[in-house]
Amino acid sequence: MAASLNISGIRKAFGKGDKTVEVLKRIDIDVAPGEFLILVGPSGCGKSTLLNIIAGLEEPTEGDLRIGGKSVVGVAPAQRDIAMVFQSYALYPTMTVADNIGFALEMRKVPKEARIKRINEVAAMLQISHLLDRRPAQLSGGQRQRVAMGRALARDPQLFLFD
Ligand SMILES: Nc1ncnc2c1ncn2[C@@H]1O[C@H](COP(=O)(O)OP(=O)(O)O)[C@@H](O)[C@H]1O
Ligand SMILES: [Mg+2]
Repeated sequence: MAASLNISGIRKAFGKGDKTVEVLKRIDIDVAPGEFLILVGPSGCGKSTLLNIIAGLEEPTEGDLRIGGKSVVGVAPAQRDIAMVFQSYALYPTMTVADNIGFALEMRKVPKEARIKRINEVAAMLQISHLLDRRPAQLSGGQRQRVAMGRALARDPQLFLFD
Protein backbone atom coordinates (compact mmCIF):
# COMPACT_ATOMS: atom_id res chain seq x y z
CA MET A 1 0.00 0.00 0.00
CA ALA A 2 1.30 3.42 -0.94
CA ALA A 3 1.73 5.84 1.96
CA SER A 4 2.17 9.59 2.30
CA LEU A 5 5.61 11.05 2.94
CA ASN A 6 6.18 14.25 4.91
CA ILE A 7 9.64 15.72 5.11
CA SER A 8 9.84 18.70 7.44
CA GLY A 9 12.82 20.87 8.27
CA ILE A 10 15.34 18.19 7.35
CA ARG A 11 18.95 19.29 7.72
CA LYS A 12 22.03 17.16 7.14
CA ALA A 13 25.61 18.11 7.91
CA PHE A 14 28.63 15.85 7.43
CA GLY A 15 31.85 16.19 9.45
CA LYS A 16 32.71 18.05 12.64
CA GLY A 17 33.92 21.50 13.71
CA ASP A 18 35.27 23.74 10.95
CA LYS A 19 35.20 20.76 8.54
CA THR A 20 31.40 20.63 8.72
CA VAL A 21 29.66 20.58 5.35
CA GLU A 22 25.95 21.35 5.38
CA VAL A 23 24.50 19.33 2.51
CA LEU A 24 20.76 19.65 3.16
CA LYS A 25 19.85 23.10 4.50
CA ARG A 26 16.15 22.83 5.24
CA ILE A 27 14.03 20.51 3.16
CA ASP A 28 10.23 20.54 3.35
CA ILE A 29 8.37 18.23 0.97
CA ASP A 30 4.95 16.59 1.22
CA VAL A 31 4.15 13.67 -1.07
CA ALA A 32 0.60 12.24 -1.22
CA PRO A 33 0.01 8.46 -1.31
CA GLY A 34 0.68 7.19 -4.84
CA GLU A 35 2.14 10.54 -5.93
CA PHE A 36 5.22 10.48 -8.17
CA LEU A 37 7.91 13.03 -7.29
CA ILE A 38 11.17 13.65 -9.11
CA LEU A 39 14.11 15.52 -7.57
CA VAL A 40 16.41 17.14 -10.11
CA GLY A 41 19.71 18.85 -9.34
CA PRO A 42 23.41 18.94 -10.17
CA SER A 43 25.77 16.20 -9.03
CA GLY A 44 26.60 16.58 -5.35
CA CYS A 45 23.56 18.68 -4.44
CA GLY A 46 22.26 16.09 -1.95
CA LYS A 47 19.71 13.92 -3.82
CA SER A 48 21.18 10.59 -2.68
CA THR A 49 21.67 11.96 0.84
CA LEU A 50 17.97 12.82 1.08
CA LEU A 51 16.90 9.40 -0.25
CA ASN A 52 19.28 7.69 2.19
CA ILE A 53 17.71 9.68 5.04
CA ILE A 54 14.21 8.66 3.91
CA ALA A 55 15.32 5.02 3.75
CA GLY A 56 16.95 5.29 7.19
CA LEU A 57 20.50 4.62 5.98
CA GLU A 58 21.56 8.08 7.22
CA GLU A 59 20.13 9.96 10.20
CA PRO A 60 19.14 13.59 9.65
CA THR A 61 21.04 16.17 11.71
CA GLU A 62 17.71 17.86 12.37
CA GLY A 63 14.09 17.62 11.28
CA ASP A 64 11.22 15.16 11.10
CA LEU A 65 10.22 12.53 8.61
CA ARG A 66 6.80 10.88 8.51
CA ILE A 67 5.68 7.88 6.47
CA GLY A 68 1.95 7.23 6.52
CA GLY A 69 1.66 9.96 9.16
CA LYS A 70 4.04 8.25 11.61
CA SER A 71 7.44 9.66 12.49
CA VAL A 72 10.21 7.26 11.47
CA VAL A 73 13.12 9.14 13.02
CA GLY A 74 15.23 6.46 14.74
CA VAL A 75 13.28 3.61 13.09
CA ALA A 76 15.54 0.97 11.47
CA PRO A 77 15.57 0.81 7.62
CA ALA A 78 14.06 -2.69 7.59
CA GLN A 79 11.09 -1.48 9.64
CA ARG A 80 10.23 1.39 7.24
CA ASP A 81 8.73 -0.80 4.49
CA ILE A 82 10.56 1.03 1.70
CA ALA A 83 11.97 -0.47 -1.51
CA MET A 84 15.02 1.42 -2.78
CA VAL A 85 16.99 1.25 -5.99
CA PHE A 86 20.54 2.41 -5.40
CA GLN A 87 22.48 4.65 -7.78
CA SER A 88 25.12 1.87 -7.88
CA TYR A 89 22.46 -0.92 -8.37
CA ALA A 90 23.93 -3.05 -5.52
CA LEU A 91 22.83 -6.34 -7.10
CA TYR A 92 23.84 -9.65 -5.51
CA PRO A 93 26.69 -10.73 -7.85
CA THR A 94 26.44 -14.48 -7.25
CA MET A 95 22.67 -14.66 -7.78
CA THR A 96 20.83 -14.90 -11.08
CA VAL A 97 18.58 -12.08 -12.27
CA ALA A 98 15.53 -14.13 -11.20
CA ASP A 99 16.93 -14.66 -7.69
CA ASN A 100 17.89 -10.99 -7.39
CA ILE A 101 14.32 -9.95 -8.27
CA GLY A 102 12.77 -12.55 -5.97
CA PHE A 103 15.10 -12.00 -3.02
CA ALA A 104 12.86 -9.68 -0.98
CA LEU A 105 9.92 -12.05 -1.51
CA GLU A 106 11.98 -14.99 -0.33
CA MET A 107 13.00 -13.02 2.78
CA ARG A 108 9.30 -12.45 3.45
CA LYS A 109 8.60 -16.18 3.08
CA VAL A 110 6.41 -15.79 -0.01
CA PRO A 111 5.77 -19.35 -1.34
CA LYS A 112 7.85 -20.41 -4.32
CA GLU A 113 5.01 -20.50 -6.86
CA ALA A 114 3.79 -16.99 -6.01
CA ARG A 115 7.39 -15.82 -6.09
CA ILE A 116 8.03 -17.20 -9.57
CA LYS A 117 4.77 -15.67 -10.82
CA ARG A 118 5.75 -12.24 -9.49
CA ILE A 119 9.33 -12.51 -10.85
CA ASN A 120 7.91 -13.27 -14.31
CA GLU A 121 5.42 -10.39 -14.15
CA VAL A 122 8.08 -7.89 -13.12
CA ALA A 123 10.58 -9.18 -15.69
CA ALA A 124 7.96 -8.87 -18.46
CA MET A 125 7.15 -5.31 -17.37
CA LEU A 126 10.85 -4.36 -17.55
CA GLN A 127 11.49 -6.39 -20.73
CA ILE A 128 14.20 -8.52 -19.14
CA SER A 129 12.42 -11.93 -19.29
CA HIS A 130 15.18 -13.31 -21.53
CA LEU A 131 17.83 -12.42 -18.91
CA LEU A 132 16.42 -14.25 -15.88
CA ASP A 133 19.13 -16.95 -15.81
CA ARG A 134 22.08 -14.56 -16.14
CA ARG A 135 24.24 -13.11 -13.41
CA PRO A 136 24.77 -9.33 -13.02
CA ALA A 137 28.30 -9.46 -14.50
CA GLN A 138 26.77 -10.74 -17.77
CA LEU A 139 24.53 -7.67 -18.18
CA SER A 140 24.94 -4.18 -19.60
CA GLY A 141 24.62 -1.14 -17.32
CA GLY A 142 21.07 -0.44 -18.46
CA GLN A 143 20.06 -4.06 -17.97
CA ARG A 144 21.53 -4.03 -14.45
CA GLN A 145 19.57 -0.91 -13.68
CA ARG A 146 16.36 -2.65 -14.76
CA VAL A 147 17.14 -5.67 -12.59
CA ALA A 148 17.65 -3.30 -9.66
CA MET A 149 14.25 -1.74 -10.42
CA GLY A 150 12.74 -5.22 -10.66
CA ARG A 151 14.10 -6.11 -7.25
CA ALA A 152 12.27 -3.10 -5.80
CA LEU A 153 9.08 -3.54 -7.84
CA ALA A 154 8.64 -7.19 -6.84
CA ARG A 155 7.36 -6.03 -3.46
CA ASP A 156 4.39 -3.90 -2.47
CA PRO A 157 6.04 -1.45 -0.06
CA GLN A 158 4.78 1.86 1.36
CA LEU A 159 7.31 3.85 -0.67
CA PHE A 160 9.55 3.31 -3.67
CA LEU A 161 12.82 5.27 -3.87
CA PHE A 162 14.72 5.26 -7.17
CA ASP A 163 18.13 6.91 -6.92
N1 LIG B 1 29.35 10.34 4.20
C1 LIG B 1 29.66 11.54 3.72
N2 LIG B 1 30.57 12.31 4.34
C2 LIG B 1 30.88 13.55 3.89
N3 LIG B 1 30.32 14.11 2.81
C3 LIG B 1 29.40 13.41 2.16
C4 LIG B 1 29.02 12.08 2.56
N4 LIG B 1 28.07 11.63 1.70
C5 LIG B 1 27.87 12.61 0.80
N5 LIG B 1 28.67 13.68 1.08
C6 LIG B 1 28.71 14.95 0.33
O1 LIG B 1 27.39 15.45 0.31
C7 LIG B 1 27.11 16.07 -0.92
C8 LIG B 1 25.85 15.46 -1.53
O2 LIG B 1 26.12 14.15 -1.96
P1 LIG B 1 25.02 13.26 -2.66
O3 LIG B 1 23.79 13.27 -1.81
O4 LIG B 1 25.63 11.96 -2.98
O5 LIG B 1 24.73 14.10 -3.99
P2 LIG B 1 23.88 13.73 -5.30
O6 LIG B 1 23.24 12.38 -5.07
O7 LIG B 1 22.88 14.84 -5.44
O8 LIG B 1 24.86 13.73 -6.43
C9 LIG B 1 28.36 15.91 -1.78
O9 LIG B 1 29.08 17.11 -1.72
C10 LIG B 1 29.09 14.78 -1.12
O10 LIG B 1 30.48 14.92 -1.30
MG1 LIG C 1 23.41 10.63 -6.09
